Amino acid sequence: MPKDVVWDRDPHTGAKHDLLRKYLQPWAPILLSRFDSITYAEGFSGPGVYTKGEPGSPVVAFDIFAEALLHRPKQIRMVLVEDDKRREAELQSQVGKARARQPAEVNRRLHVSTHVGECHPVLLEQLHAQGCLGSPLFVLLDSYGGPDIPFSLLQELGKHRSTEVMVTFAPSFLTRFAERDERHRSAGDAAFGGTQWHGVFEQPPSQKFAFLRDQYRDTLRRAGFSHTLAFEMVDEKSHVLYLIFGTRHELGLEKMKEAMWSVDRDYGVRYRDPKDTQQQQLALELAPNTEPLRRILLEHVGKSPEGMTVAELKTYTLLETVYKPGQVTNLIRRMRDASAVTTNPHRVTADTLVLPYVRPPEKPAAPDQGVLF
Ligand SMILES: C[S@@+](CC[C@H](N)C(=O)[O-])C[C@H]1O[C@@H](n2cnc3c(N)ncnc32)[C@H](O)[C@@H]1O
Repeated sequence: MPKDVVWDRDPHTGAKHDLLRKYLQPWAPILLSRFDSITYAEGFSGPGVYTKGEPGSPVVAFDIFAEALLHRPKQIRMVLVEDDKRREAELQSQVGKARARQPAEVNRRLHVSTHVGECHPVLLEQLHAQGCLGSPLFVLLDSYGGPDIPFSLLQELGKHRSTEVMVTFAPSFLTRFAERDERHRSAGDAAFGGTQWHGVFEQPPSQKFAFLRDQYRDTLRRAGFSHTLAFEMVDEKSHVLYLIFGTRHELGLEKMKEAMWSVDRDYGVRYRDPKDTQQQQLALELAPNTEPLRRILLEHVGKSPEGMTVAELKTYTLLETVYKPGQVTNLIRRMRDASAVTTNPHRVTADTLVLPYVRPPEKPAAPDQGVLF
């Protein structure tokens, strides 16, 4: 963990900022079209800058919000918590620089408060005090991966329907130390809100990270975030870090998925889809590889002899996989042409029924007229 106030930005942090940017870009205008005031909060804000001058996450968000407010008479609040006071001072100075690039009338409607203190309970106290709970709120909890976000904090945030969270989660600490060390195990219990995750100790080594990732998604669901998505980042030394997103809104899920699919592949991020039984590692590519989705849909359709509509498969894709509903129709066409499924009618629209492939009955051979007996 870096000791200096400011440190080098590594590639996976670049991917994280790209993801954040691509999510907040539609998030802010969509919500500002319906609400007068929305809030963005961070519990582990950092100093707002990296050594080569790249912006930290609070500044990435600030720039997007300033743009969103340019032509809208609305308000955005940013609540930023950081426990290192040198970093909080640097953050204030970086926010000041970001403000200097914006017109006064945008700055008047973009409120930023920075706070020195522990993410928990300072973040909740500030959100309460500033009246941000209950209206649209996006919370980034980007620690070094801990796990160090108490489940009780997630539960408090999850009580409010319009809150969304993005949490950084590093599985290796738990797989390396927690089995034998009581103190580390209770840190895991506090983060997961129980002991369910101890099942990791019985998993084969190749499944441990995926198991913890799914346990953490389940933790977010128990806290009230009914839809979750996991974004996997791998640093240069092959350390795995997950960003886990939670929301109650299908639109939020859809927009986050679009953001995930558009993150630049140069960052070396990747997905493993939990619904893909072969657990194939899928490099994010500009032309996405839909082979795992093909397997997932084939298996899903196979469970329903009476068939499923394309619309149902799109909903399943949105809610249960990392893929986008927009990828389904073309894929079903290709699967039908390759005789992997049968479609009824042949033409693929939202109402088309997709069934397990049934080989058409062979035509009976025509009677041989040339033979008498
Ligand atoms: C991964 S960095 C945040 C990076 C930032 N989100 C970004 O993307 O630019 C984590 C930050 O959390 C701070 N931190 C660590 N433990 C904390 C705690 N318990 N409460 C608040 N901040 C903490 C660290 O000082 C560090 O600046």
